[in-house]
Amino acid sequence: MEAIKFAVTPLLKAQKGQTVTVLGVVGKGKDLEVAGFDTFSASQLQLLGASAKSESIVRTLGQDGQAYLLLGIAQENPSTDEWRELGGALGRNLGSIENLILQLPVSDISGAEALLEGIALGQYSYDKPGKSEKASKASSVKVTLVSHLAVSKTALTRISVLAKAVHGARKLATLPANELYPAKFAELAEAAAKAAELDIAIWDEKKLAKDGFGLIAAVGMGSARPPRLVKLCYKPKKAQAYLALVGKGITFDTGGLAVKPLGGMLGMKYDMTGAAVVFEAVRAIAELGLPIEVSGYLCLAENMPSGTSMRPGDVFTARNGKTVEVTNPDAEGRLVLADGLSAASEEKPDLIVDVATLTGAARVALGVRYAGLMGSEAGIAAVQAAAHTSGEPVWPIPLAKELRANLDSSVADLQNAKVGSTAGGMIVGGHFIAEFIGEKADGEKLEWAHLDIAGPADNDGAAYGFTSKGPTGVMVRTLVALAEEMSAG
Ligand code: BES
Ligand code: MN
Ligand code: ZN
Repeated sequence: MEAIKFAVTPLLKAQKGQTVTVLGVVGKGKDLEVAGFDTFSASQLQLLGASAKSESIVRTLGQDGQAYLLLGIAQENPSTDEWRELGGALGRNLGSIENLILQLPVSDISGAEALLEGIALGQYSYDKPGKSEKASKASSVKVTLVSHLAVSKTALTRISVLAKAVHGARKLATLPANELYPAKFAELAEAAAKAAELDIAIWDEKKLAKDGFGLIAAVGMGSARPPRLVKLCYKPKKAQAYLALVGKGITFDTGGLAVKPLGGMLGMKYDMTGAAVVFEAVRAIAELGLPIEVSGYLCLAENMPSGTSMRPGDVFTARNGKTVEVTNPDAEGRLVLADGLSAASEEKPDLIVDVATLTGAARVALGVRYAGLMGSEAGIAAVQAAAHTSGEPVWPIPLAKELRANLDSSVADLQNAKVGSTAGGMIVGGHFIAEFIGEKADGEKLEWAHLDIAGPADNDGAAYGFTSKGPTGVMVRTLVALAEEMSAG
């Protein structure tokens, strides 16, 4: 359990407990200096090995006998996003500090909030199974920002709620697939819904078949652990808008009968990250009491090769009535999303956003920090704005129309992949799921955005900023910001 108590005060009182004061180190010509203070001289900073390089951290004792943490901040005026990343570096390095005092040159409220948000996001740990209760209890830390800025209590609460949600998504994604399977995920959602007074509906394999969710059923039928569709509903009285969120929740992706080689299969327990992100975002939006109606659809299945698996060439009928020829059983994410998006469309929300570790092609095209963003013009614009607010990189990708023909099938309305063609793999995935976005009352297509997070869902490199190694929980904060922006009218 992580726990941070935040305070913002212009006047620092005497501190109890082990206290460390954070100072910002910047470059001044060839020299270093502490921003705003003369606690350490240029030559002392040099001697201590301090650096102005962002996220550089040196801990030392001052001449006054107090402990200091010298944080490289690169410049006098870091941006909001930079403060969030700098805070993250602090959050990852709190160790057993009981009291952290921030004497940093934050000059506006958004910078101050981002700094504290970064600390909260960065202070994350995943307890390996079997670790003793006692060892796993991280001590709680008090973080005080010394500043005149009026950071509100509401803002501090928001920071805690967001960090809890991002950490929740990271932890869910980290759970091994033998422990987190569709029915188990649904159980966790049920318990969370009870605690948060969210409405929940769960489709088991029988109900999925009965209600026409033929694609979720098809993906799940090769596994001994059957599929689930979970719908979480948050419906406040004064809703200003209606947002539907759909998450890919493949608890493990072996590739099905198109079984992946080990190198590609390892890590596929993360293939439920989209569902984890949607789940945590809905909880956070409800906890914040935002005046917006939100439905979260978790499309849960395990993609396994077996005697009951879907075969290449099999044809299934989706929830919206379209027939799909499964040419590639490893393109399973778009199948489960298709049924989730159809169900979401039935309620004609103002916007549908889906989140999915959908294609390896997204990783190839955009690397490991940017999510690919596709959809309708208004959908893309809304998600882009929210991602910008949150400091989560997204990049708009065109649904190039000539690639749509890759999905033409001779025996069904659509095929799920064009075997042998790798051109625009991320876009072809986008085209497939676009076929399951329904219409508004006026016959126009519903507004929709698709986030392919195959790149940024998992950080397989070293930790940086507020991002730990492993699952990142990316897009939880963007979805919450989107709900905030939509509910503000
Ligand atoms: N879950 C994978 C996509 C993925 C790959 C996510 C690597 C994260 C890292 C998805 O189900 C998949 O297998 N996609 C195929 C699509 C293809 C068969 C059209 C892919 O990317 O190769
Ligand atoms: Mn796959
Ligand atoms: Zn997958």
